[in-house]
Amino acid sequence: MADRIIAVINQKGGTGKTTLALNLAAGLARRGSTHLVDADPQRSLSQWVGMASAGAGLPPVAQPGSDLFTTIAQLARTHRYVVVDCPPAVQGDVVAAVLRSVHVALIPVLPSPIDLWASVDMASAVGEARRLNPGLRACLVLNQLETRNALARAMREAVAEFDVPVLQAGMQRRAAYRSAAVEGVSVYGLGKRAQTAVGDMETIIEEVLCL
Ligand SMILES: Nc1ncnc2c1ncn2[C@@H]1O[C@H](COP(=O)(O)OP(=O)(O)O)[C@@H](O)[C@H]1O
Ligand SMILES: [Mg+2]
Repeated sequence: MADRIIAVINQKGGTGKTTLALNLAAGLARRGSTHLVDADPQRSLSQWVGMASAGAGLPPVAQPGSDLFTTIAQLARTHRYVVVDCPPAVQGDVVAAVLRSVHVALIPVLPSPIDLWASVDMASAVGEARRLNPGLRACLVLNQLETRNALARAMREAVAEFDVPVLQAGMQRRAAYRSAAVEGVSVYGLGKRAQTAVGDMETIIEEVLCL
């Protein structure tokens, strides 16, 4: 049975869901058997993994349709970690099936109050999902941070009002995340060039595994 089934969700596009899902899964794959699930019909995660060479160390990816719930349950039986990348939606069958299936929902947000407010419905979706999945944990993950600990006060206040806690660890804005997608690897596959990005991911993973 899987130790952790993790979904990366946010109704807003471009907040780093696919970037976080893929790099998180690549880091988890170094700890135990890991499978990705591409629940986004745009299939950007599948394209990214499809570009990778066999030696890139990226986990395999499943592309379920209406059998999403069953697919996640089946993969969870045979893998230690399952990571699900979601479409930019808050309502509908996909997000509902995912939130019913996972232990942890990570919600990447850009560090501006406006972006955070645009994700406010995610907090109610998580609350709603807990009626069927009471153990569900959820965290915001700040993405594209400019400098460590330099969150604007307005952002800190906005986060404090949000019903979902924020992960201590976040992702800095780094060229390595974009290069990894261009080259069909994870930041782990970029070697020395991406050491700091790997550091972000390792800190995130250690925190998520303690949730
Ligand atoms: N921390 C980061 N630093 C630099 N670029 C990033 C970072 N996170 C995401 N990006 C870039 O931002 C864009 C949107 O990210 P993506 O993961 O596709 O978002 P989503 O899946 O939420 O739509 C991509 O071009 C990605 O490479
Ligand atoms: Mg995406």
